[in-house]
Amino acid sequence: MERKGVLIAFEGIDGTGKTTQIALLAEALRQRGLSVVVTREPTDGQYGRKIRELYENRNSVTPEEELALFLDDRREHVEQVIAPALAKGHVVLTDRYYYSTAAYQGAAGHDPQKIIAANELFAPVPDMVIMLEAPVSLGVHRVQKLRGETLNDFEQEGALARVADIFSGLAGANIRRIDGTADAQAVHALVMAAVVELF
Ligand code: TYD
Repeated sequence: MERKGVLIAFEGIDGTGKTTQIALLAEALRQRGLSVVVTREPTDGQYGRKIRELYENRNSVTPEEELALFLDDRREHVEQVIAPALAKGHVVLTDRYYYSTAAYQGAAGHDPQKIIAANELFAPVPDMVIMLEAPVSLGVHRVQKLRGETLNDFEQEGALARVADIFSGLAGANIRRIDGTADAQAVHALVMAAVVELF
């Protein structure tokens, strides 16, 4: 499918502020007259729903089955949402994408580079990846204390340290690393400064 739009993926461990920053960026881009589609993974589709069932029950599938679910969910997401929106010329902001699979399923034992290669066979490479960075302890604090949520099976602190390590080792000309520890408006200013390059 022909691609006329712009794809920006937000990545980082839990509690780095991806969802907040996507909302702020979407609003700022819309004010500038751009047509913005906000989306997320895991999706609300058939595979995304299965993935959410694993939040409290990750051991019910093998690591291979788990990886396959994330890939199936992404394939459906690309076909149904991302590729059509890009073909129409929209700006697509996705809350997580295949770098999350490299980091989380990588932390579970898969080879992160192989995961990226497998995804890039079918998933459009983002024009930019905003990698929000914060210490694992801060991310966990934000999830538990500020949102009042419990950590799901993907978010246990020891595993998250491995996830953060893989995120920090990923290389690519499209990756922009942004310190996510400051307040939301300050981080938003850094995100805007990175994103203007694309327009
Ligand atoms: P999260 O962004 O926290 O979504 P929700 O608001 O639905 O809880 O993501 C859910 C979890 O899924 C998160 O802990 C990371 C994990 N995940 C993977 O392990 N691999 C992936 O490819 C993706 C997209 C997410």
